Order: sequence, then structure tokens, then C-alpha cells
Amino acid sequence: MRIIIEPDPEQAARRAARMVALRVRNGPALVLALPTGNTPLPMYAELVRQQRERGLDFSRVAVFGLDEYVGIAPDDPRSLRACLWRHFLAQVNVQPDRCQGLDGSARDLEGECAAYEARIVAAGGLDLVVLGIGVDGHIGFNEPGSSLGSRTRIKTLTAETARANAGGFADPAQVPRLALTIGVGTILDARRCLLLATGSAKAAIIQRAVEGPVSAQITASALQLHPDARVVLDEAAAARLERADYYRETEALQSALPGSD
Ligand code: F6R
Repeated sequence: MRIIIEPDPEQAARRAARMVALRVRNGPALVLALPTGNTPLPMYAELVRQQRERGLDFSRVAVFGLDEYVGIAPDDPRSLRACLWRHFLAQVNVQPDRCQGLDGSARDLEGECAAYEARIVAAGGLDLVVLGIGVDGHIGFNEPGSSLGSRTRIKTLTAETARANAGGFADPAQVPRLALTIGVGTILDARRCLLLATGSAKAAIIQRAVEGPVSAQITASALQLHPDARVVLDEAAAARLERADYYRETEALQSALPGSD
């Protein structure tokens, strides 16, 4: 795990955006999986800026959404797919037919999940998964207790997660408690993982996910098993890390190596 600590949320977002942009430049046919939520919004804004001002080209990039609410159709403005489009995809030159999301309104939800896994495989696998983290340690919507080998499937959101993700819903009570999410195993199969967390509300769970034992109770801790996982934090989210000074030293030394990205 590579832990990168930036002074504030804006610089953390820019750092994460630089990592994504570099991958897009190096391999324009990149297969990306992307989250919704509040944390990645400044990162998306920076990627949009890079496309407009520096011609960062997303035309060959394939995008998979990480998760979706059950019972919400893809074209519903409250869907996570619509949210990702509004905040990012509609503002860059992605090809709509290269962007996929789970259909939470599918009649056969298990079939929908299996087909999504098959589409990821058909795309050549995920090159880069960008993740946020919930205060209970979830990545995607892999709530505590999710198998670390899980694939795309139906999960029940905790009441806390449903409340925290109520943004698109007029009434928080309307947030679906069931969701489809790519699995922890699906995430671990990606060639690279990038988790972005900012703000003091994430400090305690970041410490447990990064420095605690690997556990299905904190699915983000599974990233410790991944050979190329990067965690980009601001100071507030890094505040409880016990080895923060070591991570800073490591980053300063290793990022100066030739070819380091
Ligand atoms: C949403 C997703 C979730 C969020 C997490 C953090 O697509 O994958 O895991 O990343 O709930 O949400 P924010 O960033 O709003 O704190």
C-alpha cells in the first residue's frame, strides 16, 4: 500500500486526478471503475479541467460505475449512474457506449450482476479502480461482513450508509436499502486501486483500514492485499495514522526515483 498525504482536500483531489490522468495518457484504452459520493467531486472537477485546458483525451477510456441502488432506473436522476454522468462523464469526451453501469431496475438482479462481471472481463479487466470509503470502511457498497472474495452482487446498505448517501433524494427515508455493487474480489482483481479519503470524519476508519488487521468487517482493509493500491489522503483523514511520518518519508524518497508515478 502506498500512502500519500497531502495538506488539504484540494491538493489530495489534484494528486488523485494526476494519477488518473497519467494512466489515461499512458494507456488511452484504460478500463476504469469510478465511484460516486462527495469525496471524488473535486477530483472529477480537476479531470474536467485537464480535458478542457490540456486536451486530456477520454475518447477511448471505458468506464464502469461501482454501484447502483436497487429499484432506481438508470435514467432516474437519483441513480448513481446519473450522478456520475452529471458530475463527470457528461463533461468530458467519453464515448457513451463505452460507459457502463449496473441497472438497479433490472428484473433479474442476479443476472444483471453476473452480466456486469462478464462485461468487465470482456473489457479486459479493470485497469484502475477509484474508490471512496464509507465511515464503516465500505468500498463500493461492500458493507461490513462482505466476503473479501465477493463478486458483483446485491448488498443491503446499513442505515448509516443510506443516510450518508441521501444526497440525490428529497427525503432520506426514500434512499433504497438494497444496492448492487461490484465485489471486493472484483476490486482486488483490478490492476491498480486508488482510494481517496478526505476530512476528519474518515480519520478513524482510515487508520483501521490501513494499519489494522485485514477483515471483512472493514472491506477497505482488503486493499492491504492488493499489490498496487494507493491511498491518497488529506491531513485531516490521515490524522490518526500511527506511522504517518514513515509514510511521508517513504513517499518523498520513492516518488523521487526515476520513472515513479
Ligand atoms: C459510491 C461508493 C461509496 C462511497 C462512500 C464514500 O459509489 O462507492 O463507497 O465512495 O460511501 O462516500 P463519500 O465520498 O460521499 O463520503
